[in-house]
Amino acid sequence: MTDTSDHLPPPAAVLDAPGRPTVAPDAVGRVIADDERWMAEAVAQGARARRTVTPRPWVGAMVVTDDGASFPGFTEGRGGPHAEVAALARAGARARGATIYSTLEPCSHTGRTGPCADALIAAGVARCVVGIVDPDPNVAGQGIDRLRAAGIDVAVGVGHDAVTDQLRPYLTHRTTGRPYVVCKLAATLDGRTAAPDGTSQWITGPEARADAHRLRADSDAILVGAGTVRADDPSLTVRLPDGEADGIEPERLVLGRAPVGAAVHPCTEVSGPLDELLDELGGRGIVQLMVEGGASVAGAFHRAGLVDRYVLYLAPALFGGEDARSLFAGAGAPTIGDLWRGEVVDVRRVGHDLRVDLVPRRDELAAAGGIV
Ligand SMILES: NC(=O)c1ccc[n+]([C@@H]2O[C@H](COP(=O)([O-])OP(=O)(O)OC[C@H]3O[C@@H](n4cnc5c(N)ncnc54)[C@H](OP(=O)(O)O)[C@@H]3O)[C@@H](O)[C@H]2O)c1
Repeated sequence: MTDTSDHLPPPAAVLDAPGRPTVAPDAVGRVIADDERWMAEAVAQGARARRTVTPRPWVGAMVVTDDGASFPGFTEGRGGPHAEVAALARAGARARGATIYSTLEPCSHTGRTGPCADALIAAGVARCVVGIVDPDPNVAGQGIDRLRAAGIDVAVGVGHDAVTDQLRPYLTHRTTGRPYVVCKLAATLDGRTAAPDGTSQWITGPEARADAHRLRADSDAILVGAGTVRADDPSLTVRLPDGEADGIEPERLVLGRAPVGAAVHPCTEVSGPLDELLDELGGRGIVQLMVEGGASVAGAFHRAGLVDRYVLYLAPALFGGEDARSLFAGAGAPTIGDLWRGEVVDVRRVGHDLRVDLVPRRDELAAAGGIV
């Protein structure tokens, strides 16, 4: 596919619905055979950085020479090099004349590290293939402009959907100033989250619970209501086998008061309007917030339209009555025309349970004044 338009996609375009890796319809620059395959490799590299670099973006890169030699890189933790610089370092002198694939636009500013665009120019790469434009106002197309001004052939929009899906929390944070809010709930197939006596451990099986711990590991903070602290005394730590998440400790937040001696300590007690809370969390670098309930807190976030992704674990079990707790406490839609409607973006079986990922429909987002 070839498109020589100079027009770059606006930052909001990166928030399209997820899907299989594709070249964006508004891709710009010369796109050639194998670009998608190499970008998929760069996306796989980016996944390796997911839990260690936040609030920086978890970027992946690949330097590929004309004879097919490839040199991977990903953004490294604790202020380490960006993905492009890590890949260039592996390639050494072989970067000259090569193509570099980067999931996110190379940066043009000096942060903890120098501008990646300058490093690419100095290394003599001939071509740069970019997944998406970086909406960070410090970059926002300037990295691409700098590469082009230096005579580097730049294509933008390859692997757009996969990259957007991978970086969605970062993109939300950079464009709204708030964390990407994931509301996770475990329920029976008749939509109940706790028995009438308040017990809820465990509705789902060990595989679903391990999967939820991976969601915790991907989050910068986990929030529960004081009711859940009183009922379940959760520790909100990440517990995964085989060292998968060693050293990953999301901040623990309790909406309301956490009693002295509760397992959730040390935690941060938070209060006040939820939108202001999200502004405050975003302002201090919380890129993904996981809301783990209970029903009152989930209902409050849901009705305020503050949830970006619902992750529902549904057990093949039925409470079989109306006296058990629902997914959301409080009054719901008063009439059928007022139903909140979402879009299922993923369904998979986890052990004996189902995981359903649901996002607000784009028209819901538009009505709420959000990004579409
Ligand atoms: N199945 C699941 O996925 C799941 C997950 C979590 C919990 N649960 C179950 O859910 C039950 C607890 O749910 P719950 O509804 O009683 O309690 P909750 O939602 O965990 O917490 C509600 C409490 O949070 C505090 N709060 C502060 N600001 C709030 C706000 N803006 N909106 C709502 N709450 C706010 C209030 O505490 P104060 O009253 O102290 O002011 C309120 O009573 C337990 O039975 C637990 O086992 C199930």
